Amino acid sequence: MNAERDFGKPYDAIENASIDELRAVQLERLKWSLRHAYDNVPFYRRKFDAAGVHPDDLKELSDLAKFPFTVKDDLRENYPFGMFAVPREQVVRVHASSGTTGIPTVVGYTKNDIDTWAHLMARSIWAAGGRPGDIAHIAYGYGLFTGGLGFHYGAEKLGCTVVPVSGGMTERQVQLILDFRPDLIMVTPSYLLAIADEFERRGIDPRESSLRIGMHGAEPWTEEMRAEIEQRFGIDAIDFYGLSEVIGPGVSTECIETKDGLTIWEDHFYPEIIDPETGEVLPDGEMGELVFTSLTKEAFPVIRYRTRDLTRLLPGTARTMRRMEKVTGRSDDMMIIRGVNVFPSQIEELILKDERLSPHYVLELTRDGRLDELTVHVEIKPQLAGELDTLAQDCAERLRHNIKNYIGVTTRVRIRQVGEIERSMGKAKRVIDKRRM
Ligand code: DLL
Repeated sequence: MNAERDFGKPYDAIENASIDELRAVQLERLKWSLRHAYDNVPFYRRKFDAAGVHPDDLKELSDLAKFPFTVKDDLRENYPFGMFAVPREQVVRVHASSGTTGIPTVVGYTKNDIDTWAHLMARSIWAAGGRPGDIAHIAYGYGLFTGGLGFHYGAEKLGCTVVPVSGGMTERQVQLILDFRPDLIMVTPSYLLAIADEFERRGIDPRESSLRIGMHGAEPWTEEMRAEIEQRFGIDAIDFYGLSEVIGPGVSTECIETKDGLTIWEDHFYPEIIDPETGEVLPDGEMGELVFTSLTKEAFPVIRYRTRDLTRLLPGTARTMRRMEKVTGRSDDMMIIRGVNVFPSQIEELILKDERLSPHYVLELTRDGRLDELTVHVEIKPQLAGELDTLAQDCAERLRHNIKNYIGVTTRVRIRQVGEIERSMGKAKRVIDKRRM
């Protein structure tokens, strides 16, 4: 497919620095980042003080374990701009992702942060096999989500011709691929399969398209899905990982020459794996929850941010920097539906806004063809049991509308009779995931 390209060469010399050199850079940057957070974000100062630690206590990298974790709810409590470490006027961009409730998680970037991010995305696209002069079709969503703009700035920086399509309108996606003949496609893996179906619906074999490389992430996907994408399109499909709180996409990326897990850009993000129950740091190679500390970010430093993603750290192969294994699970109940992160608690909040509905609900996830479907089953209040037939349609319509408006996903809503939803003996099981991964 892409055999003639000069894969294996790093974009930046530091990607192949010796481990000693890399650790020295990390230590120096980590000291700066802890100090920057402590001096400029009241939240971090309070947290460090309460834990009895000070940035000066960090003498070596392993001392980071003494510092407290940061979690998504800390960002909610400081909504919207309370975690910024620079005056708001120096923040040139904000993005946002789902919080555990209706309050989103807001992140900010200075001019330098945007440059760093664009640089890391250019490095990532290069590692994935993209080259200057390639045409890049971007079908990640543009807007508060970091996918569209993250890839956009990186691809421009690398010197690609960018086609900023954004998500949706599948027929038009196919037409533009046929007309513009892109080399690269940047899109969630599940949506690329929907695009493949549209090719076939039009009687065109996706293998005949101009595409050579797919750059996929924002949701978990398996090796089986990779095989299907590569086979149907005749492309290399490469994994991209990131999260808004840490920077967006561009935290770690697979190298096309090895496709063996994602190289973490360790010169900017310091990874740890912890036991999600005890918080204890685990040695490389052990499975646990991924935690990141930013080393260079100005507007929105994160110290020991718990991603909730489960993976393990592996030694470098294509680069000296460490790799992380493909992420396939989380230590919380966040769902990713058509690329949108959704917490059951966000939906619960909207259910309880309607006085006619009870707190007995389950969320059923299915896959209709290629795309995820979410059905919300919720019971009517006992005192309205006799009026189910007259109320059901209006209740369902209102909840569906609110979920679309506040969370951004289209759902089906089924209003159920009292007692229809199974009561759990212990912790309520809210999510029934019937998707085949
Ligand atoms: O999804 C950033 C991104 C955009 C990454 C485009 C790659 C491509 P958030 O919306 O904040 O940011 O969601 C972050 O999505 O904690 C993971 O649970 C999940 N996730 C992201 N990439 C992958 C991946 C973007 N390659 C959350 N594999 C993360 C598995 C992923 N899960």
